Amino acid sequence: MASTSLTLLQRRLMSHHATIGIVGLGYVGLPLAVGFARAGFSVIGIDVDAKRVAAVNRGDSYILDIAGADLRPLVRAGSLRATAEERALDRCDVVIICVPTPLRKTREPDISFIVDAADRIARHLHRGELIILESTTYPGTTEELILPRLDGRRFKVGRDFFLAFSPERVDPGNRQFTTTNIPKVVGGQTPRCSALAKRLYEQIVPRVVTVSSTRAAEMVKLLENTFRSVNIGLVNEMALMCHRLNLNVWEIIDAAKTKPFGFMPFYPGPGLGGHCLPIDPIYLSWKARMHGFEARFIELAAQVNEYMPHYVVERLGAALNEAGQALKGSRVLLVGMAYKKNVNDIRESPALEIARLLGERGARVAYHDPHVPGLRLDAVSLRSQPLTPALLKRQQAVVIVTDHDRVNYARLLQHARLVLDTRNRLHGVRGRAKVVTL
Ligand SMILES: NC(=O)c1ccc[n+]([C@@H]2O[C@H](COP(=O)([O-])OP(=O)(O)OC[C@H]3O[C@@H](n4cnc5c(N)ncnc54)[C@H](O)[C@@H]3O)[C@@H](O)[C@H]2O)c1
Repeated sequence: MASTSLTLLQRRLMSHHATIGIVGLGYVGLPLAVGFARAGFSVIGIDVDAKRVAAVNRGDSYILDIAGADLRPLVRAGSLRATAEERALDRCDVVIICVPTPLRKTREPDISFIVDAADRIARHLHRGELIILESTTYPGTTEELILPRLDGRRFKVGRDFFLAFSPERVDPGNRQFTTTNIPKVVGGQTPRCSALAKRLYEQIVPRVVTVSSTRAAEMVKLLENTFRSVNIGLVNEMALMCHRLNLNVWEIIDAAKTKPFGFMPFYPGPGLGGHCLPIDPIYLSWKARMHGFEARFIELAAQVNEYMPHYVVERLGAALNEAGQALKGSRVLLVGMAYKKNVNDIRESPALEIARLLGERGARVAYHDPHVPGLRLDAVSLRSQPLTPALLKRQQAVVIVTDHDRVNYARLLQHARLVLDTRNRLHGVRGRAKVVTL
């Protein structure tokens, strides 16, 4: 029985006749759905957000990395469609879960989206189906949360259905590395599960690396993101230290990175943002604590990184003070609200925290971001202001929080009085404004 299910699915995967269900059509799920549809698979996107479902079915993309022009032909050809109906799961040979994994207010993992998706999948589980979790989560999630919901008297894992974890590694806004050219890592619940998951991804990516278990695959992603968050924490601390020692941290990094081995440059900034770096390592430290292990590097890096928005406000206060002014009552323009350059994602963005802190200190905050036309800060709605000479002249200070390419930095330098450049974007650019770096 097991080998029949396996062989049948393998054949359907290799002939691209399998129907792929993607649960969660966000930054991760939509590009993945497009990747499979482009490879000739029939793809059904399942999302609880009716607006997203309608947008996909119109061929309108709401994700920066996917152009409407790429989506429309796939929708028109019937290779990709979206629905909010969980019954669609009945028709899927493969289901890939790409739902959010945020933190609760208590800073504990909120795995409710995974649980909800797994419950829906369980209600429609059928023989020969392959289920893969791609959401970033703590080691053990697939085995402890998903497996018990699917494996039982009717269906046995590795025999009647197959279960694996494969971390998503997409980097929104990165044009060089995309969903279909970044190698995939897979770990199955059984060797058969691994083999099937590998076969699936081989149809759309050039390299698939298999690890020994779902737990190992979950841990791979957390190592990758913890590596970044710890190194950013280290370099942020270097920035604080260099300022105290009257050294320019950017000069130090530029020189250090000329070493051709054993060094990899990371850069300081206003703090971490996005759905991954501020959150994923906390998933890992939470799980480690359950096992009586204190993940010290993770906690320390989080402390340093979370301090950075406060540090930006402190440095701005000091710079204004030097000019004989106070934060209270000053007009401050934040440039770049997204958490990183050239994207429109403001989730966990340090710019929001900086705006909040400035507001608490009595500053009058406005913002300019070509990718974020409007946002809500607590109960207040803000709109991106056009970067006009008049706007710049009205400000006591401008803070470059995110260094998008589509910002007129020459104009900014020409008309601003004081600029705090948290990204060293203005390095080597001349203008009239006084520029302070981290
Ligand atoms: N954004 C990134 O750069 C990135 C990179 C790598 C990994 N990840 C991980 O991938 C996962 C998804 O992240 P994202 O950024 O794509 O999230 P997202 O918020 O952009 O998209 C998630 C989608 O899932 C939908 N959803 C929620 N619950 C659902 C359910 N029960 N059934 C169906 N749909 C449901 C939401 O409506 C939303 O459209 C997270 O675990 C994240 O950590 C994200």
